[in-house]
Amino acid sequence: MKKRFYITTPIYYPSAKLHIGHAYCTTLTDVFARSKRERGFECYFLTGADEHGLKIEKNAEAKGVTPQAFVDEIVEGFYKLWDLLKITNDDFIRTTQERHVKVVQDVFTKMYNKGDIYLGKYEGWYCRYCEAFWTDTQAGKDHICPDCGREVQRAEEEAYFFKTSKYVDSLLKFYEDNPKFLIPESRKNEMINTFIKPGLEDLCVSRTSFSWGIPVKENPKHVVYVWLDALTNYISALGYNSDNPELFKKYWEDEDTEIIHILGADITRFHAIYWPMFLESLGIRKPDREFVHGLLMMRESKMSKSKGNVVDPYPLVERFGVDAVRYYLAREVNFGSDGSFSPEQFVERINSDLANSFGNLLNRTVSMINKYFEGVIPEYKGQITEFDGNLESVINATISNYEKAMDDLKITEAITYVNELVNRANKYIDETTPWALAKDENKKEALASVMNHLAYSIYVASRLYHPVLVTASDKAFDQLGIDEKEREYINITNKNILDNHKVNKGEPLFPRLDPNIEVPFISELMGENK
Ligand code: MSP
Repeated sequence: MKKRFYITTPIYYPSAKLHIGHAYCTTLTDVFARSKRERGFECYFLTGADEHGLKIEKNAEAKGVTPQAFVDEIVEGFYKLWDLLKITNDDFIRTTQERHVKVVQDVFTKMYNKGDIYLGKYEGWYCRYCEAFWTDTQAGKDHICPDCGREVQRAEEEAYFFKTSKYVDSLLKFYEDNPKFLIPESRKNEMINTFIKPGLEDLCVSRTSFSWGIPVKENPKHVVYVWLDALTNYISALGYNSDNPELFKKYWEDEDTEIIHILGADITRFHAIYWPMFLESLGIRKPDREFVHGLLMMRESKMSKSKGNVVDPYPLVERFGVDAVRYYLAREVNFGSDGSFSPEQFVERINSDLANSFGNLLNRTVSMINKYFEGVIPEYKGQITEFDGNLESVINATISNYEKAMDDLKITEAITYVNELVNRANKYIDETTPWALAKDENKKEALASVMNHLAYSIYVASRLYHPVLVTASDKAFDQLGIDEKEREYINITNKNILDNHKVNKGEPLFPRLDPNIEVPFISELMGENK
């Protein structure tokens, strides 16, 4: 395994407020970054905002403000949301920042000088109202603008193109040599069969129909196409081609770094086809992994502003807490598949996994240690009851399965292993019947072993949940009475870690949610009660 990681989310468009779909992507990336750091790896985590383009120019105009003022306000909201969700990004790149603009201009020039970008003519279906070009497929047989529904006309304009044809063969070879580059695997077939095999046209990489973009240095009436601009963020943020290239050297050039992009299925083509080509043109290394996650639907339908079913994660976190929302996002939808958000499932998930299973295990255990051992966790003395051995092997297996799943970005699966451990520990209470052991003085040693095993199970579960349950895990550690140093991941296999610690009974970690109150609350956020 490589010794450090560079992990990125897409940079989001500040054309409107972020919704739960964006929070899904950033939260899962954060879970991965935290899990790596907790296990002692260096991990640099980047997110940001993709601020150029016609849509933003138009939205700003409609609001009567400059595009910069428009994005500044929306990006403030990005910062607030990521703070609220306790996202641990190391940097936040904005494509309007000088450090980025300069790199994009230089990248364009490099590619142009190399002969990979040339000046040509762009022909397509033009919408005068949106000032946008559309392809044959987009305009359809009725020649209608897919954005505004007005009729479009055939038109042409001068534009720069990137020579994709030059890089197709090496891209296919790259896919073949790096079977783990694009995951899930089905995405690679989709790229090859849908886009590459039918023949890739050279990519138009400049626009003259609007001005809110990065001007091409050599010919400023053109602005750089938003996708060439946006993708470059992954290297401009590290100081590529700048006076301060230290981070770039460490997190991009050094082969000991694994470079991972996380992205949604809607933008696979840009990341999996054009980005590797751009990098090859620049003569720099390609990412090691691109992980494509599915899209979240609102119940069965796509999130859409016009339907008003877009859930703002902010009030959700304010009401249910950061842990519940992070947990729901990480657990409910298998990372990599499409999924759907529903208020009923949200409440059910939190109640069953967090309140009933994990919260209850902690609560029962701390109460019993208080009752039977005056609040002091008995020492670990090996496998005493007939059930101890099995619980210990479940714990060991959980740790290794969890680590393997996390490394493969199977985040949902990783959490499921922890849930299974928690369920196993709850069952262990029923098997060992501590209340019966407590009645028999000869069973004191067995009772002590049960308490230690339960406390250790909670310790391991809290450690493994920690990248998701960023506050509740610490509260569980507090209740077990263990200090900061003892919480470190390195102690996870130390069965004596809890010996003689004094427990502190606290508030329940996750109070049960009343579905009759909470389901309508969330439905309201989805615009369902209108
Ligand atoms: N700005 C581009 C990305 C440039 S990256 C160099 C963009 N931005 S976006 O804001 O429209 O969406 C970015 C990402 O948000 C998607 O790829 C996806 O990861 C996430 N999601 C947006 N809607 C989503 C859902 N409904 N569900 C899950 N993720 C969603 O595209």
